[in-house]
Amino acid sequence: MLKIVVCVSGGGTNLQAILDALEQNRITNTEIIAVISNNTKAKALERAASHNIPGIVLSPRSYPDRETFNEAFTAKICELAPDLVVLAGFLVRIPPRMVAEFSNRIINIHPSLIPSFCGVGYYGLKVHEKVLERGVKVTGATVHFVNEGMDEGPIIAQKAVYVEEGDTPEVLQRRVMEQAEWVLLPKAIDDIACGRITVVDNKAVFRQA
Ligand code: GRF
Repeated sequence: MLKIVVCVSGGGTNLQAILDALEQNRITNTEIIAVISNNTKAKALERAASHNIPGIVLSPRSYPDRETFNEAFTAKICELAPDLVVLAGFLVRIPPRMVAEFSNRIINIHPSLIPSFCGVGYYGLKVHEKVLERGVKVTGATVHFVNEGMDEGPIIAQKAVYVEEGDTPEVLQRRVMEQAEWVLLPKAIDDIACGRITVVDNKAVFRQA
Protein backbone atom coordinates (compact mmCIF):
# COMPACT_ATOMS: atom_id res chain seq x y z
CA MET A 1 0.00 0.00 0.00
CA LEU A 2 1.46 3.37 -1.09
CA LYS A 3 1.05 5.88 1.75
CA ILE A 4 0.79 9.43 0.41
CA VAL A 5 0.66 12.90 1.93
CA VAL A 6 -0.96 15.53 -0.32
CA CYS A 7 0.17 19.16 0.05
CA VAL A 8 -2.29 21.85 -0.99
CA SER A 9 -2.74 25.64 -0.87
CA GLY A 10 -6.05 26.47 -2.48
CA GLY A 11 -9.21 25.07 -4.04
CA GLY A 12 -7.99 21.49 -4.02
CA THR A 13 -9.38 20.44 -7.39
CA ASN A 14 -6.30 18.30 -7.94
CA LEU A 15 -6.83 16.71 -4.51
CA GLN A 16 -10.45 16.11 -5.53
CA ALA A 17 -9.27 14.41 -8.71
CA ILE A 18 -7.14 12.08 -6.56
CA LEU A 19 -10.06 11.38 -4.18
CA ASP A 20 -12.39 10.64 -7.13
CA ALA A 21 -9.79 8.36 -8.72
CA LEU A 22 -9.38 6.44 -5.46
CA GLU A 23 -13.15 5.98 -5.21
CA GLN A 24 -13.36 4.83 -8.83
CA ASN A 25 -10.37 2.49 -8.45
CA ARG A 26 -8.35 4.42 -11.06
CA ILE A 27 -5.79 4.78 -8.30
CA THR A 28 -5.09 1.43 -6.64
CA ASN A 29 -2.97 0.27 -3.74
CA THR A 30 -2.83 3.79 -2.27
CA GLU A 31 -3.90 5.56 0.92
CA ILE A 32 -3.88 9.31 1.65
CA ILE A 33 -2.62 9.47 5.25
CA ALA A 34 -2.81 13.27 5.57
CA VAL A 35 -3.38 16.54 3.73
CA ILE A 36 -1.08 19.44 4.60
CA SER A 37 -1.88 23.05 3.72
CA ASN A 38 -0.07 26.33 4.31
CA ASN A 39 -3.45 28.07 4.09
CA THR A 40 -6.00 27.64 6.90
CA LYS A 41 -8.77 28.73 4.51
CA ALA A 42 -7.89 26.30 1.74
CA LYS A 43 -11.05 24.63 0.38
CA ALA A 44 -8.83 21.60 -0.09
CA LEU A 45 -8.92 21.09 3.69
CA GLU A 46 -12.73 20.82 3.54
CA ARG A 47 -12.39 18.22 0.80
CA ALA A 48 -10.01 16.21 3.02
CA ALA A 49 -12.30 16.52 6.04
CA SER A 50 -15.29 15.27 4.04
CA HIS A 51 -13.28 12.09 3.40
CA ASN A 52 -12.13 11.81 7.04
CA ILE A 53 -8.54 12.48 6.02
CA PRO A 54 -6.50 14.36 8.68
CA GLY A 55 -5.84 17.95 7.65
CA ILE A 56 -2.75 19.72 8.98
CA VAL A 57 -2.03 23.44 8.63
CA LEU A 58 1.61 24.44 8.51
CA SER A 59 2.11 28.03 7.42
CA PRO A 60 5.41 29.91 7.08
CA ARG A 61 3.54 32.84 8.62
CA SER A 62 3.32 30.97 11.93
CA TYR A 63 7.12 30.75 12.22
CA PRO A 64 9.71 33.45 13.00
CA ASP A 65 11.60 32.72 9.79
CA ARG A 66 11.64 30.43 6.79
CA GLU A 67 14.39 28.20 8.17
CA THR A 68 12.30 27.41 11.26
CA PHE A 69 9.27 26.68 9.08
CA ASN A 70 11.37 24.44 6.84
CA GLU A 71 12.54 22.44 9.85
CA ALA A 72 9.00 22.05 11.19
CA PHE A 73 7.59 21.12 7.76
CA THR A 74 10.34 18.56 7.14
CA ALA A 75 9.98 17.11 10.65
CA LYS A 76 6.20 16.69 10.17
CA ILE A 77 6.65 14.91 6.85
CA CYS A 78 9.32 12.65 8.37
CA GLU A 79 6.98 11.92 11.28
CA LEU A 80 4.15 10.98 8.90
CA ALA A 81 6.68 8.89 6.93
CA PRO A 82 4.78 8.70 3.63
CA ASP A 83 6.09 6.69 0.69
CA LEU A 84 5.23 9.62 -1.59
CA VAL A 85 4.56 13.34 -1.13
CA VAL A 86 2.16 14.79 -3.72
CA LEU A 87 2.20 18.56 -4.33
CA ALA A 88 -1.28 19.39 -5.63
CA GLY A 89 -1.50 23.12 -6.12
CA PHE A 90 1.02 23.69 -3.31
CA LEU A 91 2.59 27.13 -3.45
CA VAL A 92 5.39 26.79 -0.88
CA ARG A 93 8.99 25.98 -1.89
CA ILE A 94 10.00 22.51 -0.68
CA PRO A 95 12.88 22.68 1.83
CA PRO A 96 16.17 21.33 0.44
CA ARG A 97 16.47 18.86 3.36
CA MET A 98 13.03 17.41 2.53
CA VAL A 99 14.04 17.05 -1.13
CA ALA A 100 17.16 15.21 -0.01
CA GLU A 101 15.29 12.96 2.46
CA PHE A 102 12.59 12.15 -0.10
CA SER A 103 14.66 11.94 -3.26
CA ASN A 104 12.38 10.98 -6.18
CA ARG A 105 9.51 10.55 -3.70
CA ILE A 106 7.96 14.00 -4.12
CA ILE A 107 5.86 14.74 -7.22
CA ASN A 108 4.34 18.00 -8.43
CA ILE A 109 1.73 18.94 -11.01
CA HIS A 110 2.63 22.04 -13.00
CA PRO A 111 0.13 23.71 -15.37
CA SER A 112 2.39 23.98 -18.45
CA LEU A 113 4.55 21.79 -20.69
CA ILE A 114 7.85 22.06 -18.80
CA PRO A 115 10.42 23.50 -19.64
CA SER A 116 8.06 26.19 -21.00
CA PHE A 117 6.42 28.65 -18.64
CA CYS A 118 7.88 27.31 -15.41
CA GLY A 119 10.33 28.34 -12.70
CA VAL A 120 10.24 31.28 -10.33
CA GLY A 121 7.05 33.33 -10.64
CA TYR A 122 5.24 30.78 -12.83
CA TYR A 123 2.34 29.44 -10.80
CA GLY A 124 -1.45 29.38 -10.91
CA LEU A 125 -3.12 31.86 -13.25
CA LYS A 126 0.19 33.61 -14.02
CA VAL A 127 1.25 30.61 -16.10
CA HIS A 128 -1.80 30.93 -18.36
CA GLU A 129 -1.46 34.70 -18.60
CA LYS A 130 2.07 34.24 -19.95
CA VAL A 131 0.92 31.49 -22.33
CA LEU A 132 -1.71 33.81 -23.84
CA GLU A 133 0.71 36.76 -23.86
CA ARG A 134 3.24 34.69 -25.87
CA GLY A 135 0.54 33.41 -28.21
CA VAL A 136 1.49 29.73 -28.09
CA LYS A 137 -1.06 27.41 -29.70
CA VAL A 138 -0.49 24.40 -27.45
CA THR A 139 0.01 24.31 -23.73
CA GLY A 140 -0.75 21.58 -21.18
CA ALA A 141 0.44 20.19 -17.87
CA THR A 142 3.38 18.24 -16.51
CA VAL A 143 3.76 15.91 -13.56
CA HIS A 144 7.35 15.57 -12.42
CA PHE A 145 9.54 14.52 -9.53
CA VAL A 146 10.67 17.41 -7.36
CA ASN A 147 14.39 18.06 -7.03
CA GLU A 148 16.36 20.98 -5.60
CA GLY A 149 15.47 23.17 -8.57
CA MET A 150 12.13 24.83 -9.35
CA ASP A 151 10.08 22.63 -11.72
CA GLU A 152 13.32 20.95 -12.88
CA GLY A 153 12.99 17.36 -11.66
CA PRO A 154 12.55 14.25 -13.87
CA ILE A 155 9.37 14.52 -15.96
CA ILE A 156 6.95 11.64 -15.35
CA ALA A 157 4.20 12.55 -17.82
CA GLN A 158 2.81 15.44 -19.86
CA LYS A 159 -0.47 16.13 -21.65
CA ALA A 160 -1.06 18.75 -24.33
CA VAL A 161 -4.04 21.10 -24.38
CA TYR A 162 -4.96 23.42 -27.28
CA VAL A 163 -5.26 27.13 -26.69
CA GLU A 164 -8.50 28.37 -28.29
CA GLU A 165 -9.47 31.70 -29.85
CA GLY A 166 -10.76 34.11 -27.23
CA ASP A 167 -9.36 32.17 -24.27
CA THR A 168 -9.01 34.13 -21.08
CA PRO A 169 -6.47 32.98 -18.47
CA GLU A 170 -9.33 31.64 -16.36
CA VAL A 171 -10.94 29.69 -19.21
CA LEU A 172 -7.57 28.27 -20.26
CA GLN A 173 -6.65 27.34 -16.68
CA ARG A 174 -9.91 25.41 -16.33
CA ARG A 175 -9.35 23.53 -19.60
CA VAL A 176 -5.78 22.63 -18.60
CA MET A 177 -7.05 21.39 -15.23
CA GLU A 178 -9.90 19.34 -16.73
CA GLN A 179 -8.06 17.92 -19.74
CA ALA A 180 -4.57 17.53 -18.28
CA GLU A 181 -3.93 18.05 -14.56
CA TRP A 182 -6.84 15.99 -13.26
CA VAL A 183 -5.87 13.16 -15.64
CA LEU A 184 -2.09 13.19 -15.21
CA LEU A 185 -1.80 13.37 -11.42
CA PRO A 186 -4.04 10.40 -10.52
CA LYS A 187 -2.43 8.30 -13.28
CA ALA A 188 1.08 9.14 -12.04
CA ILE A 189 0.14 8.15 -8.49
CA ASP A 190 -1.30 4.82 -9.68
CA ASP A 191 1.78 4.18 -11.85
CA ILE A 192 4.04 4.82 -8.86
CA ALA A 193 1.83 2.73 -6.55
CA CYS A 194 2.07 -0.16 -9.02
CA GLY A 195 5.84 0.14 -9.50
CA ARG A 196 5.68 1.28 -13.11
CA ILE A 197 7.92 4.35 -12.72
CA THR A 198 11.66 4.32 -12.12
CA VAL A 199 14.28 7.07 -12.43
CA VAL A 200 17.33 6.24 -14.56
CA ASP A 201 20.02 8.85 -15.26
CA ASN A 202 17.71 11.53 -13.87
CA LYS A 203 14.93 10.58 -16.31
CA ALA A 204 11.66 9.03 -15.25
CA VAL A 205 11.08 5.77 -17.11
CA PHE A 206 7.67 4.07 -17.48
CA ARG A 207 7.65 0.28 -17.49
CA GLN A 208 4.48 -1.84 -17.61
CA ALA A 209 5.06 -3.84 -14.38
C1 GRF B 1 -3.96 25.54 -10.26
O1 GRF B 1 -3.45 26.66 -10.94
C2 GRF B 1 -3.29 24.32 -10.81
O2 GRF B 1 -3.01 24.51 -12.17
C3 GRF B 1 -2.00 24.27 -10.06
O3 GRF B 1 -2.34 24.76 -8.74
C4 GRF B 1 -3.50 25.61 -8.83
C5 GRF B 1 -4.57 25.24 -7.85
O4 GRF B 1 -4.91 23.90 -8.01
N1 GRF B 1 -1.49 22.93 -10.04
P1 GRF B 1 -5.97 23.18 -7.00
O5 GRF B 1 -7.35 23.48 -7.52
O6 GRF B 1 -5.76 23.76 -5.62
O7 GRF B 1 -5.63 21.73 -7.08
